[in-house]
Amino acid sequence: MAGTGEIWPILLARHEEIRSITAIDISHQMHLHALDRLHKDRSSRIEHLEADFLANELPAAFADIAISSFGLKTLNRSQQAIFAKDLARILKPGGVFSVIEASDPEGWILRPFYRFYLDRILPLIEKLFLKGAQDFSMLGIYTSEFQNCSHLAACLQDEGLDVVQTRYFFGCATGLAGRKPAGREKPIKARR
Ligand SMILES: C[S@@+](CC[C@H](N)C(=O)[O-])C[C@H]1O[C@@H](n2cnc3c(N)ncnc32)[C@H](O)[C@@H]1O
Repeated sequence: MAGTGEIWPILLARHEEIRSITAIDISHQMHLHALDRLHKDRSSRIEHLEADFLANELPAAFADIAISSFGLKTLNRSQQAIFAKDLARILKPGGVFSVIEASDPEGWILRPFYRFYLDRILPLIEKLFLKGAQDFSMLGIYTSEFQNCSHLAACLQDEGLDVVQTRYFFGCATGLAGRKPAGREKPIKARR
């Protein structure tokens, strides 16, 4: 769910030990866009994999680090369970992960105004000023359906991963970070 890889420059700058990034995205255009517009100077360190993460064929224990920024909101609950299973499968024992997603800020006093902004104002801004683009007009529906990262956290724990959940900006985004324990991982099952 790499999209245009806005996070890669930060990762590569902070962690010189990272030799390469495998960028998985289901969209061909996203890979082209990422390469053309943003990452020409670091393209030798990025391998592009056009694939559905929920049906990926990466080998088990492949990754030291796995990240997803804002790629999860379209996944329903059963897809989140598949995501968790695959994340646990591709991480090396001791490997770490971090994901963040736009969420519905349940319990926040200003939530009604925020929902109005997501559901009504944002689509209007796109319609009037962004030539009918629909990048953000779906955000209201996606966040209503996705809610937050809690279900995914439970799925990841079921797969034997250590998980810490964090709320950002009063719950307008939620994130999970954690680790695949070294040495006491679940046995890797054969692929579906
Ligand atoms: C909001 S974008 C992510 C933005 C990204 N953080 C960036 O820097 O551009 C979500 C991305 O997830 C991808 N995506 C959604 N479902 C996917 C799946 N099942 N497998 C792989 N990619 C998926 C979409 O194609 C899209 O590029």
